[in-house]
Amino acid sequence: MLARDNTLNNKFFKNNDNGKFTFISNNPEKTVCLGIELGNLLQAGDLIAINGALGAGKTSLIKGIVKGLKSPDIVTSPTFSIINEYSSTVPIFHFDLYRINKLEDIEELGYEEYFYSQGVTLIEWAEIIISYLPEELLLINIYMDLNNISTRKISFEPKGERYKKIVKELKAIECIRN
Ligand SMILES: Nc1ncnc2c1ncn2[C@@H]1O[C@H](COP(=O)(O)OP(=O)(O)OP(=O)(O)O)[C@@H](O)[C@H]1O
Ligand SMILES: [Mg+2]
Repeated sequence: MLARDNTLNNKFFKNNDNGKFTFISNNPEKTVCLGIELGNLLQAGDLIAINGALGAGKTSLIKGIVKGLKSPDIVTSPTFSIINEYSSTVPIFHFDLYRINKLEDIEELGYEEYFYSQGVTLIEWAEIIISYLPEELLLINIYMDLNNISTRKISFEPKGERYKKIVKELKAIECIRN
């Protein structure tokens, strides 16, 4: 029973021709597990843009992704710094844009050096800087459920072939499909 609680058993997923995939998570651990599976599939140069309301689970998902990328580092919200960097076989850049005051702040950060680097870039509140994002990326939206405080709808929208492949591989993982 315990092992089952930590799996991503889920019957409520949908998909369509755009490579879009929606996963329902009904507890925080499942969101972390989903992140781990995604992190396992990532490589240098990948960029994940995450949107969702306050407390939706963006950092929780990133905790999983960083674990899946085999980093021993602790994920924290980069509230004051905007960017946290974690080490793994590739550098991991974790942006939290909630507190940027103006769009130009992202230019001052030298965003291109991160977004087009040989690291993995993970961005919370990516919608704020939509015009600065590369055309190809994996867009993740996390929706809260007004009727259930522990339920999240997590949608994956791949933009570009590389990200379609990642989502296809993610969907094929048995514990995510079932
Ligand atoms: N299914 C779920 N998936 C993820 N988090 C959940 C879930 N159910 C409840 N939670 C709770 O929601 C909160 C999510 O917090 P988290 O910091 O990951 O969100 P966030 O989107 O990064 O918030 P912020 O906008 O402040 O950065 C945690 O307290 C977590 O326990
Ligand atoms: Mg957060």
